[in-house]
Amino acid sequence: MSFRPTFLYKADDARGRVLAEVFAQHAPWLEFRMWPDVGEPQLVHYLLAWEPPANLEAQFPNLKVLFSIGAGVDQLDINSIPTHVSIVRMIEPGIAQGMVEYVTHAVLDVHRDMHAYRQQQQHGVWKALPVRSAMNCSVGVMGLGTLGTAVVQHLTLLKFNCAAWSRTKHLVDGVATYAGFEQLGEFLRRTQVLVCLVPLTDTTRGILNAKLFGRLPLGSTLVHVGRGAHLVEADLSAAIDAGHIKEAILDVTDPEPLPSTHPFWRHPQIRITPHIASRTQAASAAEVLLANLDQHRRGLPMHGAIDRELGY
Ligand code: NDP
Ligand code: OXD
Repeated sequence: MSFRPTFLYKADDARGRVLAEVFAQHAPWLEFRMWPDVGEPQLVHYLLAWEPPANLEAQFPNLKVLFSIGAGVDQLDINSIPTHVSIVRMIEPGIAQGMVEYVTHAVLDVHRDMHAYRQQQQHGVWKALPVRSAMNCSVGVMGLGTLGTAVVQHLTLLKFNCAAWSRTKHLVDGVATYAGFEQLGEFLRRTQVLVCLVPLTDTTRGILNAKLFGRLPLGSTLVHVGRGAHLVEADLSAAIDAGHIKEAILDVTDPEPLPSTHPFWRHPQIRITPHIASRTQAASAAEVLLANLDQHRRGLPMHGAIDRELGY
């Protein structure tokens, strides 16, 4: 008797409904199910989730691929996922577009002194600050992967003076690139607006710390869109209090949600958004998932398959 393998979805219903429709039309060989309606657990070959259920191996003994619904995989306990299960992060144009919008907005806001103007308005102050050219504003993006590359490419179009830092060396037109911890200092020294877009791994946890802030020029700004655990909060507070960091825009915190009593909420030089810089868009993600399922069926590499050793 022939059977259809199950593609199990475990995240919010709204995106699940979009995916269900696309899959029904374009992947009739699959049974698309939404958690907790798992059907026959033995038939679950594919799982798309932010947080997978516990005891993955026992629950779904025939699982072949775990797709993260997000770009990051730090929410997963990678060591607990059987090694025969491929782990694939989300690379889809909707996330990149959202991140470009958020970071561009933040950089422009900083560059054009909008925070100061908001404060001036509160006091009825009409006072022009110097208008500088984007060419004189150096932006440094930590992480030159899918999102970091999209961000620097767009900022370069706006004529910002861009640099990027990654683990391995990359070349991007019009962008000064740096690689490895040996070049981190050089990268930081020329960065006025620092954007954090590295994944959270054992190597990058706590990377936004006093030592790093101290290597930035006086009056720099932090735009943090990576993960809360990259940031050593006390070190940021101290760097702001010392006047070394001018302001910080934080889209991610640890924990999330940030408790309502946390001092960062009321800090005049810190702005918080609730992890909304970007989000996987169901329609474009569906196309990417279908392409990856096809690759997997043909025994070919999937786009976004992570390196377990590196953790991203
Ligand atoms: P990628 O895996 O495509 O890129 C990661 C980049 O970080 C690569 O350039 C990589 O270097 C670099 N990197 C990793 N480790 C190190 C290290 N130890 N030192 C220096 N550079 C390092 O990831 P994405 O661009 O898709 O996503 C990045 C992160 O953005 C996600 O992991 C997630 O945390 C965050 N994110 C946040 C969202 C939000 O709404 N706030 C939304 C989506 C993602 P190399 O190129 O050499 O491998
Ligand atoms: C992601 C996120 O990793 O939403 O996609 O943060």
